[in-house]
Amino acid sequence: MQDVLQQLQEKRAAALLGGGQQRIDAQHGKGKLTARERLAILLDDGSFEEWDMFVEHRCTDFGMEDQKVTGDGVITGYGTINGRLVFVFSQDFTVFGGSLSEAHAEKICKVMDQAMKVGAPLIGINDSGGARIQEGVASLGGYAEVFQRNMLASGVIPQISLIMGPCAGGAVYSPAITDFVFMVKDSSYMFVTGPDVVKTVTHEEVTAEQLGGAITHSSRSGVADLALENDVEALLTTRRFFNFLPSNNRDKPPVWPCEDPATREEASLDTLVPDDPAKPYDIKELITKIADEGDFFEVQPDYAKNMVIGFIRLEGAPVGVVANQPMVLAGCLDISSSTKGARFVRFCDAFSIPILTLVDVPGFMPGTTQEYGGIIKHGAKLLYAYAEATVPKVTLITRKAYGGAYDVMASKHLRGDVNMAWPSAEIAVMGPKGAVEIIFRKALGDPAAIAARTEEYRRKFANPFIAGSRGYIDDVIMPRQTRARVCRSLAMLLNKQVTNPWRKHGNIPL
Ligand code: HXC
Repeated sequence: MQDVLQQLQEKRAAALLGGGQQRIDAQHGKGKLTARERLAILLDDGSFEEWDMFVEHRCTDFGMEDQKVTGDGVITGYGTINGRLVFVFSQDFTVFGGSLSEAHAEKICKVMDQAMKVGAPLIGINDSGGARIQEGVASLGGYAEVFQRNMLASGVIPQISLIMGPCAGGAVYSPAITDFVFMVKDSSYMFVTGPDVVKTVTHEEVTAEQLGGAITHSSRSGVADLALENDVEALLTTRRFFNFLPSNNRDKPPVWPCEDPATREEASLDTLVPDDPAKPYDIKELITKIADEGDFFEVQPDYAKNMVIGFIRLEGAPVGVVANQPMVLAGCLDISSSTKGARFVRFCDAFSIPILTLVDVPGFMPGTTQEYGGIIKHGAKLLYAYAEATVPKVTLITRKAYGGAYDVMASKHLRGDVNMAWPSAEIAVMGPKGAVEIIFRKALGDPAAIAARTEEYRRKFANPFIAGSRGYIDDVIMPRQTRARVCRSLAMLLNKQVTNPWRKHGNIPL
């Protein structure tokens, strides 16, 4: 018996060392933690239960039969984050560069299947040279097995991808299907083809960081939701983020104890909207002032900044916030902000997270760039997402709600449950200037007449009361009471039940 115990200890010790001390040192030398060190930070102390530590690859080509490392380049299992169950995999770059073999893929699939069976989120830590080159098509098959499970899990359990090293070729598509992607600056990248191939095919000279680094994907492409400074920050941020998410689509999001009174008034909100309708203000000030303890977890803060999305808590319960940002492009809707908002709305709807929509939008962005890029189709995604969503939807119009953008931003007509406005709201087909230039075109040569008509239009339509008179707005509220009114609305909506007609699936304009 002693021998067997000894053998077990030795096998475990070997597995814990992964690809060996030299490669661990090289990993540290690049400013990266090892796969195990990452899990130790991500999970609650002592909560990790490892599976498949003794799995080995089955490849016999290229001398691989003599190169076996127990665990085969990925550490899998489950643990807890702040006491809540989560399944994890963490690719070990010290073992064949974290490359994905058939056996490696089977390990990932096993935790994915189990996460689905018990209804717990999945967090994948990606740090891999891609398909295990020695295995060829077996590893491609392995990737596709993972992709298939990513799809089946979508909308059933939350899936988060942390990119903490290379992630290239088809390997990028697993994270792309997951709900959120967090990248680490300077040490991670994602691209379908690397700089060398890019140079050969398009003659562009570009570094890996420029092509697919964390800054690129969090600010230009929108592939990543956050760019974090280093591994530790990324892992600790993920722990905080996890607290906003339910475990699965049948579960309610976790409610935290809340000391912040729901009735707390914020007098400064009465003067947040400037008198001049052309002057911007920061919508994030409103978000943080109404959130429990001012805590706002913003997602995609550097991408399509004219739309702000993220999570707050109200009376302890998570709420997804979607807001136009008047500080950037006057808060107008364009291709990027529409898709950013649409995907977030769908995430919240899939996971029973109520949506608070803050509206200050002058309309859709005009121009050939937008039209040629398909703003019609992309704007329709946001419209579709809101119209489809059955979670509680509370909408507040702070200032402008013009044209189609009024309709799109969770209006009453798209089953908004509670639609409120501040007294500063302007709800109309378009802004006074544009409206007068069209309906009084013949008077365009007469500036005085145009000014008078513009003022008349503003007086008549640039307010919330016409929408209020039709019941499109349930109430016009004092800005200082926003937190109380939103909290009360959400409390009323706690047991909301709405279902969409049966269908295989809708056909969102992709
Ligand atoms: C097998 C691999 C590997 C791979 C790296 N290694 N990638 N082994 N299969 N895909 C091994 C290396 O041989 C090396 O082993 C160790 O991992 C570390 O790699 P280095 O090159 O020394 O590290 P570094 O300089 O940091 O470069 C990392 C890298 C580079 C940029 C990822 O290794 C690389 O370009 N790898 C190949 C990437 C690739 O083309 N993958 C296939 C993509 S196609 P030793 O023993 O020396 O430590 C793909 C398709 C997926 O993934 C399709 C899904 C549908």
